[in-house]
Amino acid sequence: MGRCCYYAVGTLSLLLLVTSVTLLVARVFQKAVDQTIEKNIVLRNGSETFDSWKKPPLPVYIQFYFFNVTNPEEILSGEIPRLEEVGPYTYREIRNKTDIQFGDNGTTISAVSNKAYVFVREMSVGDAEVHLIRTVNIPAVTAMEWADQGFIQVLVRALLKAYKQKFFVTHTVHDLLWGYKDEILSLVHPFRPDIPTYFGLYYGKNGTNDGDYVLLTGEDNYLNFSKIVEWKGKTSLDWWTTDKCNMINGTDGDTFHPLITKDEVLYVFPSDFCRSLYITFSDYERVQGLPAFRFKVPEEILANTSDNAGFCIPTGNCLGSGVLNISICKNGAPIILSFPHFYQADEKFVSAIDGMHPNKEYHETFVDINPLTGIILRAAKRFQINVYVEKRDGFIETGNIRTMVFPVVHVNESVLIDKETASRLKSVINTMMIVTNIPYIVMALGVFFGLIFTWLVCRGQGSMDEGTADERAPLMRT
Ligand SMILES: *[C@@H]1O[C@H](CO)[C@@H](O)[C@H](O)[C@H]1NC(C)=O
Ligand SMILES: *[C@@H]1O[C@H](CO)[C@@H](O)[C@H](O)[C@H]1NC(C)=O
Ligand SMILES: *[C@@H]1O[C@H](CO)[C@@H](O)[C@H](O)[C@H]1NC(C)=O
Ligand SMILES: *[C@@H]1O[C@H](CO)[C@@H](O)[C@H](O)[C@H]1NC(C)=O
Ligand SMILES: *[C@@H]1O[C@H](CO)[C@@H](O)[C@H](O)[C@H]1NC(C)=O
Ligand SMILES: *[C@@H]1O[C@H](CO)[C@@H](O)[C@H](O)[C@H]1NC(C)=O
Ligand SMILES: *[C@@H]1O[C@H](CO)[C@@H](O)[C@H](O)[C@H]1NC(C)=O
Ligand SMILES: *[C@@H]1O[C@H](CO)[C@@H](O)[C@H](O)[C@H]1NC(C)=O
Ligand SMILES: *[C@@H]1O[C@H](CO)[C@@H](O)[C@H](O)[C@H]1NC(C)=O
Ligand SMILES: *[C@@H]1O[C@H](CO)[C@@H](O)[C@H](O)[C@H]1NC(C)=O
Repeated sequence: MGRCCYYAVGTLSLLLLVTSVTLLVARVFQKAVDQTIEKNIVLRNGSETFDSWKKPPLPVYIQFYFFNVTNPEEILSGEIPRLEEVGPYTYREIRNKTDIQFGDNGTTISAVSNKAYVFVREMSVGDAEVHLIRTVNIPAVTAMEWADQGFIQVLVRALLKAYKQKFFVTHTVHDLLWGYKDEILSLVHPFRPDIPTYFGLYYGKNGTNDGDYVLLTGEDNYLNFSKIVEWKGKTSLDWWTTDKCNMINGTDGDTFHPLITKDEVLYVFPSDFCRSLYITFSDYERVQGLPAFRFKVPEEILANTSDNAGFCIPTGNCLGSGVLNISICKNGAPIILSFPHFYQADEKFVSAIDGMHPNKEYHETFVDINPLTGIILRAAKRFQINVYVEKRDGFIETGNIRTMVFPVVHVNESVLIDKETASRLKSVINTMMIVTNIPYIVMALGVFFGLIFTWLVCRGQGSMDEGTADERAPLMRT
């Protein structure tokens, strides 16, 4: 072993350390990985991302929990409603995208997003076609609303009187969701052909889509991946009173751009909410062994703030925190959206109903996103459909009912990555991790050779003190 040997080791160690620090500072491998991801997570014909966008591989379930009315007479005489939650009634969502067309040199794509629903008996409390639910007669309440607004007022009044519409009706879960022929609507239909004769909370939604979308593919910039530019041929909504409120922001919430940071605000436009929302980082999570960022809908979304004043229609008519009047995008039906059990809403809504138990764990909306790829690992979109009820002079059906936001059903639309997809994703992520960590591996090698060098030097110094090779010899023999 010559002196040059440990100079070589020392130089090697130094080189490795310098290289690793340079690589780290210049973020060479980090950038390479980011670029690979930015290039691959693009809606491009034939790409894996495109295929899973076109036909989402993970099973999505939508679960309905109805509020069965137990004291209808008392409610009509002015008492607090006692509601009993029954559910879940679970449907599997079969999703795909059709009418796909690329535009603008592959930077935009247009498509419709189809959804079909198949009942899953094993995941439900009972048969949706058998179980009966008593709830508010939404078509009748809607007709009263039309009458108040002057729309075929005389006709509706006469009809409601003649047909003795009850304020509460009992229908099967299946009919309430997917539609039943309604007397009042059937009679209104000849005068207003745009109003269907059937009523159901999800009537006409099975096997159809919510309109044409034009999205950005992410080809120009990964941050624009699947960002909506147009919905139903329009770049913004026209229901709300301010331009900000009418904006169509972000994605539809089923896909997100890759390389997510926790300081980001992610915008989504779920068309069933009739408005854009945003979600913000709340926690680090692990889903099937994969790292995830949990993003949540913050409380401010439905709070009574100046930002949200544009959603109070008619102008200035704010109902309070935690509710959203979406009547304007539901044909005038007095539908009020909230989170389940009025989670994060004003106490007055909770206490107006007997049976509301808001709970963070069960009633919040969240999405767990893998930050590297932007892929959703787990999500639960939760909301509640309510009806605005009040006593109306001239409609004896309403009795002495209190004015309130009356819960009808709450919904949990959820998805969870399966083990197989998770392990495939895991190997991709691990490869990326190894590549990103190459500088650290180089650094570890540098440190290792550095230690060897130190050891050699110390031993060398020892040998210089002692001077002769003979004294070192016994060491070699043992
Ligand atoms: C994608 O490519 C396939 C085969 O090359 C072609 O048949 C299909 O029409 C393309 N799809 C779109 C949306 O352009
Ligand atoms: C598409 O690309 C070509 C050539 O790169 C360019 O001339 C053309 O203007 C682009 N079209 C659009 C709509 O961006
Ligand atoms: C939705 O439509 C599909 C086929 O078109 C049918 O099999 C399914 O039962 C329908 N779902 C409901 C809830 O009616
Ligand atoms: C809902 O209430 C009605 C009336 O009391 C009752 O007939 C029905 O069985 C209840 N439904 C369920 C699913 O419990
Ligand atoms: C896509 O979904 C629609 C409605 O659910 C269905 O009618 C159609 O056959 C599906 N298309 C493909 C290619 O799966
Ligand atoms: C795409 O992203 C870039 C940078 O974030 C932005 O400047 C551009 O306006 C986006 N394009 C569209 C159509 O939103
Ligand atoms: C849409 O995004 C802009 C910022 O890009 C924001 O100011 C606006 O409030 C958002 N609108 C909604 C309805 O979230
Ligand atoms: C909403 O906020 C405004 C101003 O802060 C306040 O005047 C109003 O009473 C609030 N409305 C409700 C229903 O809480
Ligand atoms: C809900 O909005 C509609 C307008 O779209 C309005 O006519 C109605 O009065 C609002 N309801 C409440 C309770 O404010
Ligand atoms: C959906 O949320 C409800 C509470 O709202 C919960 O009971 C149920 O387990 C959730 N379903 C899934 C599949 O996570």
